[in-house]
Amino acid sequence: MRKTSQHGQWSSRLAFILAATGSAVGLGNIWKFPYITGENGGGAFVLVYLACIFAIGIPIMMAEIMLGRRGRQSPINTMRDLAREAAGSRFWSWLGWLGVIAGFLILSYYSVIAGWAMAYVVRVGSGVFDGVTSDGVSNIFGQFIADPEKLLAWHSLFMILTMLVVARGVKGLERTVKFLMPALLVILVLLVGYAMEQGSFQQGVSFLFKADFSKITSDGILTAMGHAFFTLSLGMGAIMVYGSYLPSKISIGSTTIIIALADTAVALLAGLAIFPIVFANGLEPGSGPGLIFQTLPIAFGHMAYGSIFGALFFVLLFFAAWSSSISLIEPAVAWLVENKKMSRMRACIWAGLVTWTVGIGTVLSFNIAADLTLFGKTFFDVLDYLTANIMLPLGGLCIAIFAGWVMNKETARQELSLKHAALFNTWLFLVKFVSPLAVLVVFLKAIEVI
Ligand code: PFF
Repeated sequence: MRKTSQHGQWSSRLAFILAATGSAVGLGNIWKFPYITGENGGGAFVLVYLACIFAIGIPIMMAEIMLGRRGRQSPINTMRDLAREAAGSRFWSWLGWLGVIAGFLILSYYSVIAGWAMAYVVRVGSGVFDGVTSDGVSNIFGQFIADPEKLLAWHSLFMILTMLVVARGVKGLERTVKFLMPALLVILVLLVGYAMEQGSFQQGVSFLFKADFSKITSDGILTAMGHAFFTLSLGMGAIMVYGSYLPSKISIGSTTIIIALADTAVALLAGLAIFPIVFANGLEPGSGPGLIFQTLPIAFGHMAYGSIFGALFFVLLFFAAWSSSISLIEPAVAWLVENKKMSRMRACIWAGLVTWTVGIGTVLSFNIAADLTLFGKTFFDVLDYLTANIMLPLGGLCIAIFAGWVMNKETARQELSLKHAALFNTWLFLVKFVSPLAVLVVFLKAIEVI
């Protein structure tokens, strides 16, 4: 029997593609991908990341959308009901809880970094970087993150904006993403053009695509896999909840491929825009989370109309973050509405307040509490490692196991309705064996068991 969601549904296939791409394309592609690639030595890391997207990410994304559409509720209730339907254990609803917690934790720091992007709209737009040197850019960035009050103000503003969209429900989400994605793509291509002309383009390209496997560690492999989950918004119910708003007749297979390709293209374009500038200016590719804030302003500071293009770029980065952040909190909000009988507005206020509070930890980890570390990691580092490298792959592993081993095969076949039997069998093989084994092997390697 097919259900419908009490929260509404997407008006068309395009709306779903835009919303899911909006969730996938975010800070992960433009801010995180370049700096973790820089920290992990370039090409080999990129190759592992691409392999993870195709062998693990795409099959799990299909599984997650499929489960969401079958359950038509928040991930917690969806997993509970689907487990019941398949006569599985009640334990599966914990998968939903794991996702809700991961969503809170990720959004708490995501919002702080999105705040940086908003602050940079003002900075770049007002011409602060005109004719600036690389040292100048680094100083400006250093001073900015040393100021907890400023970071807190931007974090608060971003959280308010996120909750405003979520409060308006599926329709609010849809309207916001329709214009953002195409605009972001155009400006990224423009920036790649600049990097080709003015940067060390060759050096950037070989850094990104020339694989030197001696540069990658087992922790680097874990980071690449974790990032594949992070960038596709997998393993925590965000894509599952978006799937629950997907009309029944829309094909999940082809839609997933489009979303994954778009997401990968944006990440690679961001790398192609950033690394040539890094090398041309003698900057350090492994300089960490500040990388794009210390490189792109140099480009904007030296190009004609740079302050306009620059401001536009950070506006779009903020928009990309915005359309991702709404999906991070949607599973929790949907659950509060379903189970606590709250209005959407009330649910948003509560969820937003909790996230905002945790976010203060990240704000302080860049300044006052920078020395407060656990295993050499600051509060922000710990959150990032725990969520992206552990919680999301673990969630994805469970989703693959559920879809491949617990759920009735015929139900899955019907819900996915792939055109050819061979496609379904390939998908089933991937979620049953390849994805779970790959995640397990990477986990075991990271803790040095194998
Ligand atoms: N995919 C987003 C990005 O790359 O920025 C981040 C994200 C959104 C992760 C939603 C997880 C999620 F559920």
